[in-house]
Amino acid sequence: MTGMHHMLVHFPEAFWALATLMILVGAWMPGRLAELSRIALLPVLVLSLLGALAAIVSGLLVWPLAANLASPMARNHLLMALWSLGLYTMLTVLVWRAGAAAFDGSRRWVLVILALSGGLLFATTGTLGGHLAGATTRFSELLRLTGWEVYTTFYSPGWVVAVMAMIGLACAVLGHRHKRPSGGRDD
Ligand code: HEM
Repeated sequence: MTGMHHMLVHFPEAFWALATLMILVGAWMPGRLAELSRIALLPVLVLSLLGALAAIVSGLLVWPLAANLASPMARNHLLMALWSLGLYTMLTVLVWRAGAAAFDGSRRWVLVILALSGGLLFATTGTLGGHLAGATTRFSELLRLTGWEVYTTFYSPGWVVAVMAMIGLACAVLGHRHKRPSGGRDD
């Protein structure tokens, strides 16, 4: 069953990488390739979510939750998998709701920023998984520069929590300022 997780994780990792690339190409490049990237993005995102669910379910089935939560590396691996799933779910809903207009004007920046953030999240998920399985990578050196020691850091560094709180606040203020009048009927 362990091998099942090792096999299944390739689906979300590959589809998330592909979706991220397609968003960058769709947002910045001219021509047919960019057009194809924009058209095919939604199915790729949907497949990535299905793959992620399969990977998460297999992870939860294979290893006892108590063991995962007791180890800093396994706990953060699980946490990063859930953050990645959350972020790509948000991207999928945005692309689905906006349809052909998802890449119009400054909207493309929302996709690009989310895609780049998602790239960092799923790369971290995979890196921690690799460390758990004994296949270490140099990506963890980058994490160390932010104060995250993959073998021991159990909680987010304080500055990360502060930055997250500031981003949340900025989004709330922006959302409030640009709130559209409802204009709907009461009936
Ligand atoms: C989107 C979800 C996930 C992704 C992309 C992912 C990715 C990975 C990767 C790339 C590996 C290394 C596999 C290898 O080197 O062959 C791994 C291993 C591992 N993952 Fe995940 N994972 C996910 C979810 C989970 C969840 C939800 C759990 C536990 C609840 C989990 C627990 C583990 C453990 C314990 C290992 C180490 C396996 C070993 O020691 O052989 N993963 N994962």
